[in-house]
Amino acid sequence: MPFYRRVGEVPPKRHTQFRQPDGSLFAEELMGQEGFSSDSSLLYHRHRPTAITSAVPFEPPAWSRVPNHPLKPRHLQTGKLGGGPTGTVDPVLGRQHLLANDDVRISYVEATEPSPLYRNAVGDECLYVSAGAVTLESTFGALELVEGDYAIIPTSVIHRLVPKDGAVKLLTIEATGHIGPPRRYLSVRGQFLEHAPYCERDLRAPAAPILAEGYDISVLVQARRGWTEHVYANHPFDVVGWDGCLYPWAFSIHDFEPITGRVHQPPPVHQTFEGPNFVICSFVPRKVDYHPLAIPVPYNHHNVDSDEVLFYTGGNYEARRGSGIEQGSISLHPSGFTHGPQPGAVERAIGIEAFDELAVMVDTFRPLDLCEPALAIEDTGYAWTWNRTV
Ligand SMILES: [Fe+2]
Repeated sequence: MPFYRRVGEVPPKRHTQFRQPDGSLFAEELMGQEGFSSDSSLLYHRHRPTAITSAVPFEPPAWSRVPNHPLKPRHLQTGKLGGGPTGTVDPVLGRQHLLANDDVRISYVEATEPSPLYRNAVGDECLYVSAGAVTLESTFGALELVEGDYAIIPTSVIHRLVPKDGAVKLLTIEATGHIGPPRRYLSVRGQFLEHAPYCERDLRAPAAPILAEGYDISVLVQARRGWTEHVYANHPFDVVGWDGCLYPWAFSIHDFEPITGRVHQPPPVHQTFEGPNFVICSFVPRKVDYHPLAIPVPYNHHNVDSDEVLFYTGGNYEARRGSGIEQGSISLHPSGFTHGPQPGAVERAIGIEAFDELAVMVDTFRPLDLCEPALAIEDTGYAWTWNRTV
């Protein structure tokens, strides 16, 4: 994360004696990225964060993954997903994988139960809340998430997701590295620049530590070679304070300030985050192209190096009207296929002054495979919808 934050109690000097009321030392932990060469935070635990008493293999729900072959644009209807793969549907183990490659995995879950304590050691996670509310509890404190919020959870942060007031619907994007704001929007020291569509004031992060008591606490760890259940001697939520530039943070899509122009602006103006070999973009309600002869919907396009995933989460997506796309739909427009507005959309859009649409886009730079749950909810006629007039 680009800026320094300090929460709870920390000693005035790092790596010095910091004592608990009984005189014993707090256990200092550095969480840092890229081998001491990037962002980090120092956390002060009541107990040793290293004390585990058991490690056993864990088998999470898993699905087969098949290539997008024959190559087709796809329409996935998340409303047809039904329950998760486990008896209780929680926001981690209840995720139904939809699209994946070796860089990123995109899943969807409608969860009602708290997740286990969980640590993703493979990479950062980006959550998008499409409906409901959930509390992200972590060693850094609590973060309340509501409809429209993105949350970035750095690699290996031990956390738990607790749905509030019924079900929460989440799109989850699991990376194999770190997710952050686009570099072109940041100064050399990491401050958001004036042309960025959001800035520090729009971000939220934990404001107070969570102190939980407990012994023999299970934590599920997703690592590159598989999942393990670690049992910690003491509850990992025992941090009295932390400071640094690495922590979970949230940003509401409703705070994304759209960049518009006289003629149609390309998708990079919607970019919100970047990760290794993928980007995440936000399409938000906005005034559209105001040249007197402007065509407000996109031109047919073929971004030859990307598979493009769009999750339609609110409003009306004008360019897709007539295709069967609706709220909760996910489209995949792969490299090797030219896509564009539905027949009639260009003509209908002329003269429109504003779009009321809300969508999250993930563009990957390597092809996405289809996971088993995606095949079960595919609208198989979507590929042919450009070949008709609605
Ligand atoms: Fe596109």
